[in-house]
Amino acid sequence: MEQYIMKGGNSLAGEVQIGGAKNAALGILAAAIMTDEDVYIDNLPDVNDINVLLEAIQHIGAVVSRVNRHAVRINAESIHAISVEDEYMRRIRASYYFIGALLGKYKSAEVPLPGGCNIGSRPIDLHIKGFRALGAKVEIERGVVMAHAIDLVGSHIYLDKVSVGATINIMMAASLAEGQTIIENAAKEPHVVDVANFLNSMGANIRGAGTDVIRIKGVNRLHGTEYSIIPDQIEAGTFMCAAAATRGDVTVRNVIPKHLESISAKLKEIGCEVVELDDAVRVVGGNRQTRTNINTQPYPGFPTDMQPQMTVALALAEGTSIVTESIFENRFKYVDELARMGSNIQVEGNVAIISGVRRLKGAQVNAPDLRAGAALVIAGLSAEGYTVVDEIGYIERGYEHFEEKLRSLGAVIEKVDSQKEARKFMLKVG
Ligand code: EPZ
Repeated sequence: MEQYIMKGGNSLAGEVQIGGAKNAALGILAAAIMTDEDVYIDNLPDVNDINVLLEAIQHIGAVVSRVNRHAVRINAESIHAISVEDEYMRRIRASYYFIGALLGKYKSAEVPLPGGCNIGSRPIDLHIKGFRALGAKVEIERGVVMAHAIDLVGSHIYLDKVSVGATINIMMAASLAEGQTIIENAAKEPHVVDVANFLNSMGANIRGAGTDVIRIKGVNRLHGTEYSIIPDQIEAGTFMCAAAATRGDVTVRNVIPKHLESISAKLKEIGCEVVELDDAVRVVGGNRQTRTNINTQPYPGFPTDMQPQMTVALALAEGTSIVTESIFENRFKYVDELARMGSNIQVEGNVAIISGVRRLKGAQVNAPDLRAGAALVIAGLSAEGYTVVDEIGYIERGYEHFEEKLRSLGAVIEKVDSQKEARKFMLKVG
């Protein structure tokens, strides 16, 4: 099983190019099947989740041609199935976007329920509520969401909880419904706006994405388009936290600074210098940082996907910090792994009480999920001695060439897949 092995202690320094947003690309790739004309998408992140979704799109019959690692051409005219194999749903949750896309285009979709995952149960009741409000009959048979409609008719939908997935899924189905749909209490994340902009570039009529109320006027059909994905806010934030935790000086390039405001604000609060440029943000970790409190919220609040990475920076900051995870019910599993490295964090339900320590010590740790895995790497890079992070498949689902980008910033880190290779690394770096 592949692992990352690293020797901590170097302050990261230099510039790193940020890739396309995974969570925008997943919605956009699903939406791309809603037309029978050519769709060209670039600035795709070359990560496993994207590659699996492209496989699933091919599997239902669309023609997918990879132009290069970061660009793809899709033509969905040849789609012959409205049901998606469970194999794909088990590998990536975002396969649920096929429900909105297939229901919108073919008025029919059969997609397995996504399983829960390591950060919570993650139901899709709000997605289903939206599809039913548009007139679809939605049943769950043997773990498969069976959604069928004679016609989809616009409706006024209030989401009881702010949900990125439900907002995107309903937006897709409503794009080809008759009449107007209003989504109240909609998610405002940059990737929701990116999917709306993509659908509009295909001829959809969506207004208000990025606000609490999204209005969609259904159209008869969608046409082909060429589109470039926005930069990944969470990949950028991850490198910004790595700069803080290693007291380095890192500039993340090809970003939209506005998308990073809540992260930049918190890094400034703990004492980092944060400089915003046109399409870049520079973070100087400086000396030991000081405490602050974090409460994860839907955008524009502090992102839940940045909670583990920020917790690592706070684990090293002076004073006691409190991190409240308000989005997912089980997103502190990685704290047990951090404790093996000498952190002093008490988890009570969805609150972590962090007493900063001067230094962490390297250890063998396990990545419990994508963002926590990245956070454990940040911890290893700041720690004394060697750290080995296992289960890095989670990390590679959402970070492209993670260890290479970190090495380009001076990190002493390699991907190994045997004890022998790990020993070679230790002999090499001493
Ligand atoms: C998206 O998940 C992201 N994934 C997640 O990123 C991210 O953490 C999350 O949004 C919040 O920003 C993708 O975009 C592929 P939600 P999603 O629906 O859409 C509850 C990563 O690391 N809820 O906004 O599934 C849900 O349980 C991943 O890249 C319902 O109760 O998240 C959660 O508590 C991790 N019923 C809250 O709402 C529903 O029908 C927010 O979930 C849907 C959601």
